[in-house]
Amino acid sequence: MKEKYRFSTLAIHAGEEEHSPFGAVTPPIYQTSTFAFKNTAEVLEFQRGDASKYLYTRYGNPTQKRVEEKMAALEGGEKALVVSSGMAAVSTLVLSLVSSGEEIISTQPVYGGTYHLFKEVFPKLGIGVRFIDPEKIEQAEELMNDNTRLFFCETPTNPNLKIVDLRKLVKMAEGKQIPVAVDNTFATPYNQNPITLGADLVIHSGTKYLGGHSDLVAGVIVGPKDIINKAKETMKVLGGCIDPFGAFLLLRGLKTLAVRVERQNQNALRVAEFLSEHDRVSRVFYPGLSVHPQHDLARGQMKGFGGMVCFEVQGGLENATKVIDSFKVFINATSLGGVESLASLPVLTSHFGFDQKELEKLDVTPGMVRLSCGIEDEQDLKEDLKQALERID
Ligand SMILES: Cc1ncc(COP(=O)(O)O)c(C=O)c1O
Repeated sequence: MKEKYRFSTLAIHAGEEEHSPFGAVTPPIYQTSTFAFKNTAEVLEFQRGDASKYLYTRYGNPTQKRVEEKMAALEGGEKALVVSSGMAAVSTLVLSLVSSGEEIISTQPVYGGTYHLFKEVFPKLGIGVRFIDPEKIEQAEELMNDNTRLFFCETPTNPNLKIVDLRKLVKMAEGKQIPVAVDNTFATPYNQNPITLGADLVIHSGTKYLGGHSDLVAGVIVGPKDIINKAKETMKVLGGCIDPFGAFLLLRGLKTLAVRVERQNQNALRVAEFLSEHDRVSRVFYPGLSVHPQHDLARGQMKGFGGMVCFEVQGGLENATKVIDSFKVFINATSLGGVESLASLPVLTSHFGFDQKELEKLDVTPGMVRLSCGIEDEQDLKEDLKQALERID
C-alpha cells in the first residue's frame, strides 16, 4: 500500500487494492486447485515471472496473495508467505535457511511442537539446535559458531510469559549475517512488531489471534523478499500450502484484529489484577503488571501486553483441576487467541510428558492455569474466576 496508513486502517485495506470482479467489496474465494491459460504463450509468461498469473494453488493463489500483502503491511516487513499452520511456518522457514551440519540457536521455552521439532526431528536431519534461557540471551554469544544460521525465539513465552529482549538479541546478531526470527504469535502484530525492532523475520500461528475465531489453522512468515522467496520455494515442495478457504478466513479475521486485541489486552490486564489480589492464588504472570520482573522491558518493546495470563493456584494440580473444571465462561481447551476465553493446564497440555527437571528449569508447575482472555465482558470473566477459585478449600 503506497499511503502511510495506521494499523487499524491497514488491517482492513492493505492487500485489498486490487479491484475484485464485479466490484465485490469482500474479495472472492478462489477455491480452485488449478488455473487455466488462454494459450501456451501465457504459460511462458507465468514461467518467466509474470506475477499476475497463477498456475496451481500450491504455487500461489489470489486469495493467499491478499493475506500475504496484508500481513507484510501489519508486521512492517517486505514480503509475507501464508502457509497451512504455524508449524508449517516454522519448519518451512528453518528448512529453507538451514542445512545438514548447520545449527540454530533458540530460546527455550518455545511452543511444545516447535520444541519437539527442534529437539527430536531436526537433529535426525543433521541440523543442530542449541537452547538458551530467554532471560539470558547473552548465552548465545558462547554458543554461536561458524555453522550458526538462525536465531529463533518467542516472546512473550508460553506459559509463564517471560520476555526476550529483542533489541539485545538483534544487537548480538548484528554484523554476523545470522537472521533473527521471532515467533510473534502471543504478542500479535498489534502489540509488537519485531521487524521494526530490528529482527529479520516474524512467524505466526495464524490459528490464534490473526484468525481470531478458533475456526482455522494457518501460519505466516514475514521478512525480506529474498528469504521469503526461498521459503516459498521450500513450501512448494514440502507442500504446506494453505487452502483458499483458510486464507479467506484469515483475511476476514485480520480485519478485526485491532479491535479484538485491544479488548483482549484490557480483559487480560483486569483479570491479572483481580488474580493478583486473590488469597488462593500464589503467583500471577502477566507482563502488563508492574510487579512482573520484566515489565519495563515489555513496555519498551510492546504496545500492549496481550491476552494471555498465567496463574498458579495454591495446592498444586488437584486445586488447579478443581478450578478449571468449575469454569462456566472460560472453556477448558488448548489453543489461544480466539474471541472466546479459554483455559488450560500447561502440565496436561503444552508441557505434558516433560520430566520434572525440565519443568523445574522452565518454572512450569502443576498448579499453573493458563488463560487466553477473549472479548467477553471483563466482569463476567472475573466473576467466573471468583466462583471457580471459591471451590478450593
Ligand atoms: C507460539 C506458537 N507458535 C506456533 C504454534 C503452532 O501453530 P499451529 O498450531 O498453527 O501449527 C503454536 C500453537 O499453539 C504456538 O502457540
